[in-house]
Amino acid sequence: MNTVGNKFPEGFLWGGATAANQMEGGFHEGNKGLNIADVLPGGKERLSILQEPGFNFEIDKSKYSYPNHEGIDFYHRYKEDIALFAEMGFKAFRMSIAWTRIFPNGDELEPNEAGLAFYDRVFDELHKYGIEPVVTISHYEMPVNLVKEYGGWRNRQVVTFFERYVNAIFNSYKNKVKYWMTFNEINSGLVMPIMGLGFSIHKEEDRYQPTFQAFHHQFVASSIAVKACHEIIPDSKIGCMVIFAPVYAFDSNPENVMFALQEERLFNNFCADVQVRGEYPAFIKRYFKEHGIELETQDGDLELLKENPVDYIGFSYYMSRTEKKVKTELEASQGNIIGGVKNPFLKASDWGWEIDPEGLRISLNKLHDRYQVPLFVVENGLGAYDNVEEDGSINDDYRIDYLREHIKAMGEAIEDGVELMGYTSWGCIDLVSASTGEFSKRYGFIYVDKHDDGSGTLERKRKKSFYWYQNVIGTNGEQL
Ligand code: BG6
Repeated sequence: MNTVGNKFPEGFLWGGATAANQMEGGFHEGNKGLNIADVLPGGKERLSILQEPGFNFEIDKSKYSYPNHEGIDFYHRYKEDIALFAEMGFKAFRMSIAWTRIFPNGDELEPNEAGLAFYDRVFDELHKYGIEPVVTISHYEMPVNLVKEYGGWRNRQVVTFFERYVNAIFNSYKNKVKYWMTFNEINSGLVMPIMGLGFSIHKEEDRYQPTFQAFHHQFVASSIAVKACHEIIPDSKIGCMVIFAPVYAFDSNPENVMFALQEERLFNNFCADVQVRGEYPAFIKRYFKEHGIELETQDGDLELLKENPVDYIGFSYYMSRTEKKVKTELEASQGNIIGGVKNPFLKASDWGWEIDPEGLRISLNKLHDRYQVPLFVVENGLGAYDNVEEDGSINDDYRIDYLREHIKAMGEAIEDGVELMGYTSWGCIDLVSASTGEFSKRYGFIYVDKHDDGSGTLERKRKKSFYWYQNVIGTNGEQL
């Protein structure tokens, strides 16, 4: 036990985070339509599909498995799972709504009642235990129909479909959900357009124009959502959600320092600058010029962005990134779609994600200094292999160590003056990994008996970290 003194404010939103596509299963139930995650295969192939151009968004069961179709069957087991979250003392539960449960094809005029009813039941169950839902509106779950028929977020028409979707969910859940986020890890579109922007770059195509045009459409959609949320649910808070991986220069060579700064601004700041400050930052204008990007905007777009900034920044933090202007393949850091070189001061997870708790304090301070809005760590955690002992116990001390150090770093940042709303650690219950479609990459406090070969009973078990986190929440972060 490690006592650090109570730095966490009263009402701090302790909890866990998930996404519909990685846990619900029931991929055809309740009239749900197909979404992007449903057509992504399981296993390491997924990562290369996400990074290479030319994906066709088709299911091919002769070649691949599709773990998201069953997920961990939260669709049927949500009551059991929420009871376990309550037992840990969760104050908040971050989840997403699958767009395809509400509008199965994305372009219908009326929402699907069965989909709306499902989330109604989930929210009621959360409120039964006093758990606040924190809802991501779009978490890598775009309807496949919008991808195939419209070209995903490249197409301005998708903004209209999104508007219909957000109006439906805000009106339906206005008395049940007060915390919202628009697009999960919106900046991931820079490196994984399939999940983030709903299209695959064509093989010979220049990626810049379609990527940034799609971002513009998402920014407009995000502002429309912020406006509607404030009008329909006046006591709500709606945030953006970005991946934040602070970029360190590999050394003091000014060329590397400048390169790190440019990467930081492009990857970490560009989207938040638009969503929080309501305008395109100066540096991106130069970038657009240098890459031949000419945004098509409509009258009123820029005013809409300016008038509807988000209320807070939600972000995921897993690792920092170290950069060098010129790097060899040998130096490249392994497990990270974001790139960079290995940092000699850091150890990495089994998937090569470098572990850096101090980087979380740095991130919180950087975000606070730049934006001066409340922050919410809505994802953080260690993907690791877990072992079930003969007596059924799961002794995940490595996960406890990881989380303890990151929570300490948040405490330090709060003392530094950062306004932090809460902490929802990623994958509070084991679920399908987003980047590799594996079950064996586990993040949870709750173990789910499900494996990469599809076997398993889906039985839930409490890991050692379950009891540890229960005590962290129970002491409001005082005992770690
Ligand atoms: C974030 C995503 O990138 O990281 C989640 O928002 C994802 O959907 C999480 O699951 C961890 O990544 P992975 O690839 O280990 O599941």
